[in-house]
Amino acid sequence: MSIDVYLNGEFLPIEKARVSVTDRGFLFGDGVYEVIPVYAGHLFKLQHHLQRLHNSLRGIGMANPHTQSEWQEILTRLTAQLGSSDQALYLQVTRGCTDVRDHAWPENIEPTIYARTKPLKTPTAEEKRRGIHAITLDDPRWKLCNIKAITLLANVLARHEAKQAGAQEAILISDDLATEGAASNLFIVRDKLLMTPPKSDSLLPGITREIVLELAKRHGIPYAEANIAAGDLHTADEIWMSSSTKEILPVLKLNGQSIGNGVAGALWEEMNTLYEACKQRLRQGEEI
Ligand code: PDD
Repeated sequence: MSIDVYLNGEFLPIEKARVSVTDRGFLFGDGVYEVIPVYAGHLFKLQHHLQRLHNSLRGIGMANPHTQSEWQEILTRLTAQLGSSDQALYLQVTRGCTDVRDHAWPENIEPTIYARTKPLKTPTAEEKRRGIHAITLDDPRWKLCNIKAITLLANVLARHEAKQAGAQEAILISDDLATEGAASNLFIVRDKLLMTPPKSDSLLPGITREIVLELAKRHGIPYAEANIAAGDLHTADEIWMSSSTKEILPVLKLNGQSIGNGVAGALWEEMNTLYEACKQRLRQGEEI
């Protein structure tokens, strides 16, 4: 049994990890999470993920139970258990356990801190190039989508509806604007300009989104953080979805209609190459 879990101060195999049914994460979805990719044992953009975790905790009125360096120590110790492999590290902090089920939380409640690492298999270049199909759906979510909350029922239903339609992702539409995917951020390319919706409470500030913008800036690719009208999606030259585990995927069909020429676009090729180079540098322990 390999040690792949950290739970409230202990390093354990998943079979030994137990939380109480009185945990508010279980009862209310009262908690926040992160998903951090690990390449050859190196955590990708850890400080960015820890900052977002801090913001999410603050957003739900919780104190951060650890300093950045304590988190770093816990997470590097956990991922070292799987050696220098590629991993997906899941980290969750819930408000903790209470005897009485009350929506309002009591003072002096101890959070439940859980992390699990698993082997990560990112899509190959060929799989990425084959792209995904997406559908558009009305965004039924709340007004705190910038918080990475474990309360994901709306996202779960959206992804399920996409799957039922033979697609892999749902692009969510709020007030006629495309915000993000059920579990990814959205980019479009129009006349060689890369666009993504600006940060707001309608979408998660994705770390992969941030890296894509950073790479565009560094390599002179014209980009803008600007609203994307739902109607702009079908006329886009390219559409991409980004996330920590799937990286950057081109959308080749939206609602059954081809996007651009129906193949992965030239700017996606360029960005994917830049992203892969970033990962490669990290694998060799270099700064990225
Ligand atoms: N989800 N938007 C939503 C709603 C997401 O759930 C995610 C990621 C993203 C992309 O964020 P990042 O680039 O930081 O991974 C955007 C993770 C991977 C998940 O829930 O498994």
